[in-house]
Amino acid sequence: MARIIITLSTPLFFFLFSLLSHQTVSQPEHLTTFCNPSDNFTQTSSYEANRDLLLSSLRVRSSLGTYSNATAGRTPNTVHGMFLCRGDITATSCSDCVQTATIEIASNCSLNRAAVIYYDECMVRYSSVAFFSVLEVRPSIVLYSLRSAPNLNTFNETLADKFNQLILNVSSSSLVPYFVEDQERVTQEEGSYEFESMVQCSPGLDRLNCTVCLRFALLRVSTCCGLPSSALIFTPKCLLRYRTSALSSPPPLSPSPPPPLSFPPAPPSPALFFPPPALSQPPPPLVFTRPQDVPSLCGTFSFNVIKGNEIFGRIAITMTALVFALVNL
Ligand SMILES: *[C@@H]1O[C@H](CO)[C@@H](O)[C@H](O)[C@H]1NC(C)=O
Ligand SMILES: *[C@@H]1O[C@H](CO)[C@@H](O)[C@H](O)[C@H]1NC(C)=O
Ligand SMILES: *[C@@H]1O[C@H](CO)[C@@H](O)[C@H](O)[C@H]1NC(C)=O
Ligand SMILES: *[C@@H]1O[C@H](CO)[C@@H](O)[C@H](O)[C@H]1NC(C)=O
Ligand SMILES: *[C@@H]1O[C@H](CO)[C@@H](O)[C@H](O)[C@H]1NC(C)=O
Ligand SMILES: *[C@@H]1O[C@H](CO)[C@@H](O)[C@H](O)[C@H]1NC(C)=O
Repeated sequence: MARIIITLSTPLFFFLFSLLSHQTVSQPEHLTTFCNPSDNFTQTSSYEANRDLLLSSLRVRSSLGTYSNATAGRTPNTVHGMFLCRGDITATSCSDCVQTATIEIASNCSLNRAAVIYYDECMVRYSSVAFFSVLEVRPSIVLYSLRSAPNLNTFNETLADKFNQLILNVSSSSLVPYFVEDQERVTQEEGSYEFESMVQCSPGLDRLNCTVCLRFALLRVSTCCGLPSSALIFTPKCLLRYRTSALSSPPPLSPSPPPPLSFPPAPPSPALFFPPPALSQPPPPLVFTRPQDVPSLCGTFSFNVIKGNEIFGRIAITMTALVFALVNL
């Protein structure tokens, strides 16, 4: 069971294209594609040729590292593009993800001057506007489990403590640029669980904006959807992810886990997080919906798309047999 929340860039700017996903576990999972419908180019134009050149250049570079940016063509037909892979995946997975994403973005947004595509393991993007060192938080996507986190009484604090530390650490990370991960066994009276977490920024950002981006992502994940057992947020410039798996629970009476989201969503706790810093626009209000059914464990996943403006309405799609890396089975 997982859900997806999407925040669109500006009203009307990005068009949510597709939520369909691959069915095979080994393939990268497509989350969503945003095509900018308000700015098109014409077929067989220089822009199209440059866009295709740019995407193939990103494909070639995808075997060389987790991030690359590129620029193709001359003004006024210059195209800027990049890919970013999650820092915790293999080079082969990164390359596979970028190969797939670069093909799909051109096919799904064939005549759009700007587009972003998110997979669970990578993102690819192109635009006529240079964006490499610009801080942007939209369009973003949140994918989260419908199962609630373990040790609910304290999970909000555990989450905040962990990510505040990771965000502090990420700008001093020297291994992969702006990538830090952590794994901890949390042992409390309520029970113990494994807590995996990671944060990552696009290397184009400076340290301050990396921190700003991640604080936005943390605030969003902490307040969007109750306290899910797993969540991933992808924004154009940073991503944040955690996963929990319970190891034991105190009363060993109930063999089955409690129904997910049977608790009231935790209220936002502004004191806990730095306020989202002077971003040009505040995040739009969220529509929150709850699942009607107790999720089954055998592979039916429902996705809700929740986004921040009223233009597109609420879309709810139920699909079977999708396996997301974030789903706790
Ligand atoms: C751009 O193309 C899309 C279809 O690909 C269309 O829906 C949209 O209206 C076009 N936008 C403009 C500004 O022409
Ligand atoms: C998006 O692109 C992929 C790969 O080319 C294709 O399979 C899929 O049908 C496209 N989606 C839409 C809605 O056109
Ligand atoms: C952070 O991002 C903003 C907006 O993109 C940019 O103007 C600024 O130069 C960046 N760096 C710092 C240190 O604020
Ligand atoms: C965690 O949530 C509880 C209520 O569920 C609240 O009383 C507490 O202040 C929160 N802790 C923080 C650090 O926000
Ligand atoms: C943050 O960095 C400190 C010092 O390097 C280290 O002790 C700590 O474990 C790190 N915390 C996380 C969550 O990565
Ligand atoms: C990649 O991005 C950096 C800024 O982060 C920029 O200085 C550089 O020119 C870009 N490279 C290309 C090939 O566009």
